[in-house]
Amino acid sequence: MTSNELIKQLLLSYNKSDKDAFISAAREYIEREKRMKHTQVVKELEMALFNTSENRTSFSERRFKNEMPIPRDSEKGFPLLEIKHFTDSYENLIVDSTVKAQIDQIIREFKDADILATYNLSFKKKILLCGKPGTGKTYTAQIISSLLAIPLVYIRFDSIISSYLGETASNLRKVFDYIEQGTWIVLFDEFDIIGKNRDDIHEHGEIKRVVNNFLQMMDNYNGNSILFAATNHQYMLDSAIWRRFDDIVYYDIPDNETRIKLFDRFLRQLKRDENISLESLAKKAKGLSPSDIKMITIEAIKISIIESRNKITERDLQIALTKFLNREKLRKGSNLSE
Ligand SMILES: Nc1ncnc2c1ncn2[C@@H]1O[C@H](COP(=O)(O)OP(=O)(O)O)[C@@H](O)[C@H]1O
Ligand SMILES: [Mg+2]
Repeated sequence: MTSNELIKQLLLSYNKSDKDAFISAAREYIEREKRMKHTQVVKELEMALFNTSENRTSFSERRFKNEMPIPRDSEKGFPLLEIKHFTDSYENLIVDSTVKAQIDQIIREFKDADILATYNLSFKKKILLCGKPGTGKTYTAQIISSLLAIPLVYIRFDSIISSYLGETASNLRKVFDYIEQGTWIVLFDEFDIIGKNRDDIHEHGEIKRVVNNFLQMMDNYNGNSILFAATNHQYMLDSAIWRRFDDIVYYDIPDNETRIKLFDRFLRQLKRDENISLESLAKKAKGLSPSDIKMITIEAIKISIIESRNKITERDLQIALTKFLNREKLRKGSNLSE
């Protein structure tokens, strides 16, 4: 959409008192400024939308205001969670149709929570996101937070655990006490501890207790938030963990068609030569994750900017891709211990 169309959207939604449409248009506009690298403008617009000063006017902030201080680790004092705001559009998340349908359903259920409740049903509250690194698990939680205009509570699960095992239960309790005070999109990220510590028999029992502890708190949770847990090691999770979740979303390495979409999406930032073949690029990028493809495109975009061209060429992409693939070869070659 052009900037005029977006402003028209804003005015129309104001006219119809359609808050959701208003926020969505505002976000779209901020996204647009972001793409144009107007960092200062983006900052100011985000401030205006999420107004963090005294007289909050933003719809979302007012609904989800939370007076509790951020809980901290009692031993070392670091914060146990972060609250983050995102402005991003759903179209930027490129996933296969199965994953897309699952995410759509999660969002719809949340929006229709009231209707579901009249049938004594609940929206999906506990969701496991799993799959290889760089496939969009963390990004999905960010996108959902953005789309629903609900702040993200971000918890690095492994940092809570590794801090000091004895403190873990109390840390988890604090996190859940905090979450229960509001409506959030919650992400327990890097829910990988079991996989990582599998070989350490001494620690394993302790870790198991921690996980059971977490599962119990999750079981007992019946608030208004959606709780996500993300892991790269789903095979390490046993069935006791598995069945605790209302839904399990599996992020596969993208197929050829999805890779084409990813290249297309990431290259939108800059004009590109008409003769660039996304098909052949996608073929060469077989096995790479969305995050890898993003890295390659950023590298290519930088090359073209540095060389003062206002267009990305096939050559830029080729250089970036070769560089990336060589790096992967190095990484795999040196990783003999795994
Ligand atoms: N499916 C995707 N669609 C679009 N961009 C993606 C996707 N997956 C990853 N990315 C990009 O790569 C970055 C890292 O991905 P992330 O969500 O952190 O991966 P992980 O699955 O390891 O949590 C994201 O911030 C996003 O920019
Ligand atoms: Mg992640």
